[in-house]
Amino acid sequence: MTPTEAQHKIQDLSKLLEQHNYNYYVLDNPIISDYDFDQLLEELMALEKQFPEFLSPNSPSQRVGGQITKEFKSVKHQYAMLSLSNSYNQEDLLDFDRRVREGLGLASGLREPQSPSALNLFPEEIDYVCELKFDGLSISLIYENGKLTQAITRGDGVQGDDVTTNAKTIKSIPLQLKGNYPDKFEIRGEVFMPRPVFDAINKEREEIGDALMANPRNAASGSMKMQDSAQTAKRKLDCFLYYVLGENLPHQSHFDNMHAAKSWGFKISEDAKLCSGINEVIDFINYWDKKRFDLPYDIDGIVIKVNGYNQQQNLGFTAKSPRWAIAYKFKAEQVSTELLSIAYQVGRTGAITPVANLQPVQLGGTTVKRASLHNADIIEKLDVRLGDMVFVEKGGEIIPKIIGVDFSKRKADSQPTHYITHCPECNTELQRNEGEANHFCPNENECPPQVIGKMEHFVSRKAMNIDSLGGETIVQLFKAGLVKNIADLYDLKKEQLLPLERMAEKSANNLIEGLEASKQVPFERVLYAIGIRHVGETTAKNCEKVKTLDVLIHSTKEELLAIDEVGEIIAISLHEFLVTKKQSHY
Ligand code: IVH
Repeated sequence: MTPTEAQHKIQDLSKLLEQHNYNYYVLDNPIISDYDFDQLLEELMALEKQFPEFLSPNSPSQRVGGQITKEFKSVKHQYAMLSLSNSYNQEDLLDFDRRVREGLGLASGLREPQSPSALNLFPEEIDYVCELKFDGLSISLIYENGKLTQAITRGDGVQGDDVTTNAKTIKSIPLQLKGNYPDKFEIRGEVFMPRPVFDAINKEREEIGDALMANPRNAASGSMKMQDSAQTAKRKLDCFLYYVLGENLPHQSHFDNMHAAKSWGFKISEDAKLCSGINEVIDFINYWDKKRFDLPYDIDGIVIKVNGYNQQQNLGFTAKSPRWAIAYKFKAEQVSTELLSIAYQVGRTGAITPVANLQPVQLGGTTVKRASLHNADIIEKLDVRLGDMVFVEKGGEIIPKIIGVDFSKRKADSQPTHYITHCPECNTELQRNEGEANHFCPNENECPPQVIGKMEHFVSRKAMNIDSLGGETIVQLFKAGLVKNIADLYDLKKEQLLPLERMAEKSANNLIEGLEASKQVPFERVLYAIGIRHVGETTAKNCEKVKTLDVLIHSTKEELLAIDEVGEIIAISLHEFLVTKKQSHY
């Protein structure tokens, strides 16, 4: 291939890949398979490697990430990134509407014409755009000649961090625009982590004993600040745009310009609505107050913006926020109920989670009986005691949480809560690592929920995939004293199984066969299955690529660190595990 041919091919492939990205991530309507997409991407990357002079900083290949940012450069915003003032109820909204009308010199107040002759006096309604208030982190994107040139976080509003490399990994952010866009403009929006992505990452973290992420908002902002953009790419972030700024915008209203931005390739929410007058705004809010729980991402309110640019300009800004917009914040539903007891759960990795048992109470359409109490520090900070009336809230998290105590109802004889010092399952003294919020039980080899949990993980689909051995049977086997650890599973005999309750000849055969068949799974899956703290599927795969078990066991911490994506914490965990197992001839 001649350089000119390569250059053309690179351009064609880039355009094609951007279109497929758009179909998938903006329109949610892919027209080729993931496999075909990957083939095209690989072809592009191979050409860019061979002809690096044609590698553009906005090539779709840059979405994979891999560039390391040691320190994010602080840059000044061309237009300050202001925040919005908040409103919490109908009264606040009517006040806002009144201020807008007064600011624009319009008649205010009259909702109903008092007589037919008063019709002429019926005040003109303001056009408001109502939008969902996405709960993530705000970002400002700068485009020049259709190319993304810079992505900046809000920072303190005056200057933020340049996170361009990480922003490029967000597939719904166009790197190259289409259609009739202005030469230079800025567009602002919210980077967020969709709920299903958040849940999947936390599930994986739980499986490997990593600390869970608190909520999708923190997860999104943490992901944007990662030094390795390949890691950001894995976080599968998304981005809705909601505000465009520039000298040469095509229209004189917010709503029309957002439509235009959509045609340039941006992801604009379909749920924005042009409302005539504050009453329609209130209807919109009431609708989403209920409907918001059906969305695959979190919103924490509604944003209301005056649509016309002339009107926006006339209203102007205060020092902190525009006078032409306001945020309405949803109330998190709250109830109070009695704290009956605190249970301490022991997870597979030994982490202790305190859970409140509550007098059942209705909240957000479901009956709540339990709420998370997180850890010892939170219990102490809230000063929750048995018998207290506590306030329970259903926030972004699925499990409701206790947010405070109704001290006015505290009983005179109530006693401060002392966090447990010993494991409720095996009575071993609990430990707590520096910098970690949760206590844990160190008796990993004998503490029943830990041993059972490890076995459940071991047989699970992504691990050894032994589907003939379910959770209930594992508990039965453990209680009957037939297995004390994973290795014991492989010594099980059919005769030992048959006396167990609900264990027919066929299930016993299946179980033994399942175990036998599992000896064939690749080493990387075994490495994942044995449940080394912090070692997930990817790490296990990377270890396997470079090492066999024997080499791995004899590796120093430094050698482990050289494996792809193995950092300090994983290396220490792996090394500790391998050293102790080597000594115990595991
Ligand atoms: S408009 C000048 N629209 O809420 C107007 N903001 O304090 C600037 N947000 O920091 C913001 N969804 O991060 C706007 N549809 C939306 C939004 C939105 C979420 C965030 C944004 C801003 C904060 C408001």
